Amino acid sequence: MKTYRIALLGGDGIGPEVIRAARRVLEVLPIGWEWLEGEIGWQAYQQWGDPLPAETLNTIRRADAALFGAVTTPPDVPNYRSPVLRLRQELDLFANLRPCRSIPHPISRPDVDLLVVRENTEDLYVGRERVEEDGEMAVAEMVITRRASARIMRIACEQARQRNLRRVTVVHKANVLRQTSGLFRRVALEVGRAYPDLQVDEMLVDTCAMELIRAPQSFGVIVTTNLFGDILSDEASMLVGGLGVACSANMGEQTAVFEPVHGSAPALAGKDQANPLAAIGSAAMMLEYLGEGMLARRLEKAINRVIAVRQVTPDLGGTLGTQAVAEAVIQQLLLEEEVRE
Ligand code: NAI
Ligand code: MG
Repeated sequence: MKTYRIALLGGDGIGPEVIRAARRVLEVLPIGWEWLEGEIGWQAYQQWGDPLPAETLNTIRRADAALFGAVTTPPDVPNYRSPVLRLRQELDLFANLRPCRSIPHPISRPDVDLLVVRENTEDLYVGRERVEEDGEMAVAEMVITRRASARIMRIACEQARQRNLRRVTVVHKANVLRQTSGLFRRVALEVGRAYPDLQVDEMLVDTCAMELIRAPQSFGVIVTTNLFGDILSDEASMLVGGLGVACSANMGEQTAVFEPVHGSAPALAGKDQANPLAAIGSAAMMLEYLGEGMLARRLEKAINRVIAVRQVTPDLGGTLGTQAVAEAVIQQLLLEEEVRE
């Protein structure tokens, strides 16, 4: 039996609960798991004085992949900064992947199967901001490089192939940001020519925001820079069920960190009320990354099945708790196993 070594970073609030649910589900699959627990977030800060201790980073580097819950960032602690950005920088997690697929539930638009691929390391988010003219003016630098644009486009095209999404849309604002967005556009379209089996096209970001609402079914992969991707990925996830089910991956060359899109939801913490399906969906993405595509698809099917029969938490109109939903997913996996045998 194949064995994978996975770093588990529960974090704060509902993070540990949803990660525990995901772990329970993974443990019924015909795979061996070695779990390495790591601390991250506000709790880690209170205990160790660092929200991302070096030991946690080492744990992730030693693992095949990491599964991350969520962290709390208290707004009233002046010198405290969320570890999420540092995590992405330290591990060079340059690609943020957000699949948005319809779920069998009335809150979801039908027939959507798209993936937002967001560049995660540059753009306005490099943090080069300054104040000028005695605070009367503030300036931020937007940094775009050929290297980062090329590698994000390659990931986008490879994901399109893997997921059978034939269309890759390069989203930019090159009509106004001629140098920065212009460079991204040029490089992405250039890289896209190496994938003649894909339909590579381009769209302005504002048009894309509209088209996502008007005709989300028309998209395959949307690939874009950091800021646009931040906004479009949140928009897209709301088309197909929202925070309770939205999952994501942060991919680097060496490792990858999988996490639900939602935060630590402090009001739900410790109450067994959080929807674990976003974390379980993220675990399915991790299976795909590990090369266990068949198991990933079995797990995705089981998730959709529990949604279809409403064995879900209150946010999706059900009455189950966090761990009971995990149990329901496990039952679906086992049921399907019997059918196949
Ligand atoms: P949030 O995502 O934690 O919650 C937003 C709303 O969605 C709340 O009403 C919450 O109850 C609900 N919700 C979230 N996850 C849910 C789930 N699994 N099941 C059912 N309902 C769910 O975002 P919010 O409230 O803005 O932030 C709370 C804390 O989380 C803050 O400290 C924030 O900094 C942090 N945060 C952390 C993130 C991360 O770790 N990547 C991402 C976003 C926020
Ligand atoms: Mg966001």
